[in-house]
Amino acid sequence: MSEQAQAASKTGEAPLIEARGLVREFGGLRAVDGVSIALEHGEMVGLIGPNGAGKTTLFNLLAGSLRPSSGRIRICGVDVSTAGPDSRLRLGVGRTFQIPRPFAAMTVLENVLTGRQNQTGERIAMNFLQPGRVAAEERRAVDKARALLDFVTLSRLENEPARVLSGGQRKLLELARILMADPQAILLDEPAAGVNPALLELIIDRLRMLNGDGKTILLIEHNMDMVGRLCGRVVAMASGRLLAEGAPAAVAANPDVVAAYLGEAA
Ligand SMILES: Nc1ncnc2c1ncn2[C@@H]1O[C@H](COP(=O)(O)OP(=O)(O)OP(=O)(O)O)[C@@H](O)[C@H]1O
Ligand SMILES: [Mg+2]
Repeated sequence: MSEQAQAASKTGEAPLIEARGLVREFGGLRAVDGVSIALEHGEMVGLIGPNGAGKTTLFNLLAGSLRPSSGRIRICGVDVSTAGPDSRLRLGVGRTFQIPRPFAAMTVLENVLTGRQNQTGERIAMNFLQPGRVAAEERRAVDKARALLDFVTLSRLENEPARVLSGGQRKLLELARILMADPQAILLDEPAAGVNPALLELIIDRLRMLNGDGKTILLIEHNMDMVGRLCGRVVAMASGRLLAEGAPAAVAANPDVVAAYLGEAA
């Protein structure tokens, strides 16, 4: 547990994210089957499990893009079980997608800018009433998007259409886009899947920096080496249920976890 997480648990502060008894059914299939999980402020936690374990479905429940069939979710103690993704983002929980789908015809910079919260709709009146203020806000947003592109090393591509990006670069663009909203917690769905080894090291480094900066991170990842290097705690799922939780090496060696991966291979 990070120092921040220890401090939070000492002061009795509510976990940043807390889910109790989450269930999500698709027809007869229980993709998530009674999962309880808590993320303390400042933690970086790994979520592992074989294909089809329910990891992405759990993310969709935590981020609000899917409603649970039953169970409750709290963000900093606030019950958000029926709230959508936008209100969860306002409360500080952002997520990236397993398969990033940037707006292909928009530039890389424009894609990052779509990550802003409280966009135009409510600002239209402001455009007429205080155009100078809107222009200043716009400049600040562009500066911030540029700084985030620099952070993910995509600056030189800012004016290119997003369709030219490789799979790995799309993952980095996703990260920059979600950081635009200043989330306290980021749910990352396989941020390093299919990326080359150099990009993998960059992603590991940047996640470490973000966590060092106080971001709470829940990381779905099949790369156990990466999980072991980044996460103090790992949660393993299979068939919609939690199998094991603890230090990465202990979870990877847990007989139930090993059996779940062997079952997948068979
Ligand atoms: N929208 C959906 N409709 C029907 N079934 C779904 C839906 N989404 C997921 N499932 C099923 O739920 C189960 C869990 O899927 P999920 O995508 O959460 O797994 P995962 O752990 O993220 O797998 P992977 O490692 O392959 O990404 C799978 O059997 C999947 O086919
Ligand atoms: Mg998945």
